[in-house]
Amino acid sequence: MKIIGIETSCDDTAIAIYDSNKGILSNVVSSQIKMHEEWGGVYPDLAAREHTKNILPVLDRALNEVSIKMEDIDGIAVTVAPGLIVSLVIGISVAKTLSWIYEKPLIPVHHIEAHIFASFITEKVNYPFIALVVSGGHTELYIVRNFEEYQYLGGTLDDAVGEAYDKVARMLGLGYPGGPVIDRLAKEGKEIVKLPRPLMKDKGKNRFNFSFSGLKTAILREIQKGIYKKEDLAKSFQEAATDVLISKTVDACEAFGIKEVVVAGGVSANSRLREKFGEIKEKKGIKVHFPPLYLCTDNGAMIAFTGYKRFSEKKTTINYDFEGKARLRMDKFVELIRKNSVSF
Ligand code: KG4
Ligand code: ZN
Repeated sequence: MKIIGIETSCDDTAIAIYDSNKGILSNVVSSQIKMHEEWGGVYPDLAAREHTKNILPVLDRALNEVSIKMEDIDGIAVTVAPGLIVSLVIGISVAKTLSWIYEKPLIPVHHIEAHIFASFITEKVNYPFIALVVSGGHTELYIVRNFEEYQYLGGTLDDAVGEAYDKVARMLGLGYPGGPVIDRLAKEGKEIVKLPRPLMKDKGKNRFNFSFSGLKTAILREIQKGIYKKEDLAKSFQEAATDVLISKTVDACEAFGIKEVVVAGGVSANSRLREKFGEIKEKKGIKVHFPPLYLCTDNGAMIAFTGYKRFSEKKTTINYDFEGKARLRMDKFVELIRKNSVSF
């Protein structure tokens, strides 16, 4: 079975083809990073315009690189939530049009779910596991008991961790996106200031919630002192942010007696996070999965693969009046598609 995956939830126009026998056949990503650099973040109207311009050339490449025609495709998977609505609707419209013209089933995929299941493309992951979702828009913990069985544990009360990376990079004059630059720079620095680890020890109602805006303000104060080197500030920030992520994830594992973790989303590319989780594996016997680097940031392969799982295991497809949603939790998404499911 061959499924095409379309992803336009933020600033990358990405289309891939997943084959159930051969794996990922093509995985084309057209990045807009250069365009958004001057804004220091993603500018929605510009993102939408770029998607409109790039989506058909990206589709053409994803098919032609591997000499596949739309007629050979068995289903069209598309990110329907969450994301920038002006960006989401472009991928959804193209997916609906292709589905209608070629009479192929339309399969809904949740962006965060796809980040999580990206690890399944290359590794054997066992249920139940704790999913730590760390991206530009999300910082969340879920228990994943099975495909489509998601229990939300908590999330960020303010900034997402990737967003904090991006904002701190901007404060340090390092450009966009900030995560990879801070990660690189931190390797040359020392933890010169001990920054706060917000909510890290909270065992009350915020036990599985996160907060990064206080950490961002704390580092701004240190930057304004004008006495520390950028690499030392980057290192201090990176240590604090990764400590919180690791500590909350381990706490969730222990609270629910779970021994496997999947780290998902753009920040899962972070080298220090990977290193620290490696230590946890040895100390606590918790197995931690990361997707390969090329599947960490937004891509179509994770959408095509998750769409394949949905179609082959659940037979779920949706009608043409299904709408994209800017905000939608993964557990709520499952309820919604079950209600709107149609047989193709
Ligand atoms: O998942 P993603 O590609 O897009 C969203 O869905 O948000 O994540 C993008 C985020 C950005 O905030 C970027 O700075 C961050 O992932 N990121 C990193 C690293 N690589 C990307 N953050 C920390 N360390 C990295 N190496
Ligand atoms: Zn993402």
